[in-house]
Amino acid sequence: MRVLTIIPTYDEKLSLPTTLSRLRASVPETDVLIVDDNSPDGTGVMADGYAAEDAQVHVLHRKGKEGLGAAYRAGFAWGLERNYDVLVEMDADGSHRPEDLPRLLAAVEDGADLAVGSRWVPGGSVVNWPLQRKVISRGGSFYVRTMLGLPYRDATAGFKAFRASTLRRIDYASVQSAGYVFQVDLLWRTHLAGLRVVEVPITFVERVAGDSKMSGAIVAEAMQRVTLWGLSARARVLKNVATSVKR
Ligand code: GDD
Ligand code: MN
Repeated sequence: MRVLTIIPTYDEKLSLPTTLSRLRASVPETDVLIVDDNSPDGTGVMADGYAAEDAQVHVLHRKGKEGLGAAYRAGFAWGLERNYDVLVEMDADGSHRPEDLPRLLAAVEDGADLAVGSRWVPGGSVVNWPLQRKVISRGGSFYVRTMLGLPYRDATAGFKAFRASTLRRIDYASVQSAGYVFQVDLLWRTHLAGLRVVEVPITFVERVAGDSKMSGAIVAEAMQRVTLWGLSARARVLKNVATSVKR
């Protein structure tokens, strides 16, 4: 399997060096694509430095901050054009431990179409998150599960390994979600396509440097989209019932 690990960055100069060296040590075979949105702190320049030293590291520079969804869409297109078999999503800030990646990749080798690094299954955990973030994440996952009828515990997870065929099948390029709800969107599409999703327990460690890019706008977009998807799915069910009753 040829694996590409995509790392979106916005002002991650303090975290990138450690994350990158841990990744290269834990999974030496993976190529890496850093997708930087013209970070004011110079993360993109730093990434170019790593790419110049290491043939397995690549950088995609984007004009400005357009959100996690746009960064990943560009990264997926880059990787699919180059025929990688597996495309991994991983945060730059150390929250997704590179040491957990071999277990995600093993799940894909064992037949998963999507392996999700999950905080909320037995064996998974979160270290150093303030109570408020735990509540948002668990509450968010609960809302997503009930609205969309998804059977997964960690619905907003951002540490994922996709088979290339999964991304093509779910038409990732048509995803419009801009913020972190992008993660829910991909999971929901994979589920609707009837593909095999496996949750792999991970330990999510809160960043030690830099700031989260989570915002009120990101939460609001997530709430709106999930609510809309859930209501439309219910409307579709009702419509089907109505048509079969008429017949
Ligand atoms: N290129 C780019 N553009 N990168 C971005 C952008 C953007 O607009 N916004 C965020 N990132 C990058 C960050 O630099 C980091 O590498 C990663 O995306 C995650 O951002 P954080 O701001 O650290 O996210 P978080 O820790 O608050 O959120 C985590 O939990 C969410 C909810 O479970 C992440 O794991 C998310 O993926 C997850 O959805
Ligand atoms: Mn983070």
